[in-house]
Amino acid sequence: MRFVVTGGAGFIGGHVCGRLLAAGHEVVCVDSFDDFYDPAVKRRTADGLSSFPGFTLVTADIRDQPALREGVRAAGVRPGSVACIVHLAARAGVRPSIEDPVLYSQVNLDGTACMLELARELNVGAFIFGSSSSVYGDRAEVPFREDDAAAAPISPYAATKRAGELMCHAYAHLYGLSVLCLRFFTVYGPRQRPDLAIHKFARLMAAGEPIPFFGDGSTRRDYTYVDDIVQGVEGAIRFALANPGCFEVVNLGESDTVTLSRLVELLSASLGVNAVLRRLPAQPGDVERTCADITRARELLGYAPTTRIEEGIPKFVEWLRAQPKG
Ligand SMILES: NC(=O)c1ccc[n+]([C@@H]2O[C@H](COP(=O)([O-])OP(=O)(O)OC[C@H]3O[C@@H](n4cnc5c(N)ncnc54)[C@H](O)[C@@H]3O)[C@@H](O)[C@H]2O)c1
Repeated sequence: MRFVVTGGAGFIGGHVCGRLLAAGHEVVCVDSFDDFYDPAVKRRTADGLSSFPGFTLVTADIRDQPALREGVRAAGVRPGSVACIVHLAARAGVRPSIEDPVLYSQVNLDGTACMLELARELNVGAFIFGSSSSVYGDRAEVPFREDDAAAAPISPYAATKRAGELMCHAYAHLYGLSVLCLRFFTVYGPRQRPDLAIHKFARLMAAGEPIPFFGDGSTRRDYTYVDDIVQGVEGAIRFALANPGCFEVVNLGESDTVTLSRLVELLSASLGVNAVLRRLPAQPGDVERTCADITRARELLGYAPTTRIEEGIPKFVEWLRAQPKG
């Protein structure tokens, strides 16, 4: 089958492309190599993927409809030739979205509308949207369930992801496109985004530098290992293709929560260094806790996460140690 994966040079997208290509599929990766973090990191991911004969790279911005259409046409994509679009390109990150909400809205919402339009024009059967646990806002009750209205986001990033889900619903309704919106819960693993806590902390700790430690360490996150996310994405693709016209919102997490303090302990143990904490106040836009109810993912997608944080952190540290210095 042929897939279009947006954000395929990024952290999660790179892993998704790798799995699809290894399974013998064709992947057209659309990425703009934006500068949210060092584009050279993304280039290396794309270079690695290009060793698969089924991989084609389209360098285009998802907001630029003419460039998008021309890029995929030049890559040999014709109406009816794509089984599924996996849409992962976005401006990620809660805190930077408070600094630049217009950019987040443009990339995450307008960009999603452009991708849905492309899906309609190309008569694509299924569309997978990379959404986020942040859409649940600052909820006291856990675990988070998909039947929550998710109507109270507390950051522009979260609002753009929820808006993207609603836009997807409109396309499923109007055009019978099969859509699955996957709410990822803090994803980590090899090639994790450098702005995310595990990666940022690990680099600073390895360099003997203090880590920014927000709040009292009691905030909790449902950290999800990237291989488990990829397994969920594969399940979502299967489900969407087997159920024409479906629309589902599905959590992908480990359904386990880890405090910030515990996370630092685990990193210290794996790296063999003591953490020096630079204590800072809790940040606006950050939620107190996240925890996924994954009943729906198990039932619909056959999702079965296997990597607990105690196993995932050492795997991440092993990857980090193999990276060139700096
Ligand atoms: N990593 C997480 O913990 C997490 C959690 C929840 C949701 N998500 C969502 O999952 C998706 C992937 O996240 P990630 O962590 O891999 O991030 P990432 O930043 O590593 O990947 C995003 C990719 O999209 C590309 N991109 C950005 N703007 C673009 C544009 N205008 N046009 C084309 N390409 C563009 C980037 O160059 C990058 O390669 C995002 O939609 C993100 O919001 C991630």
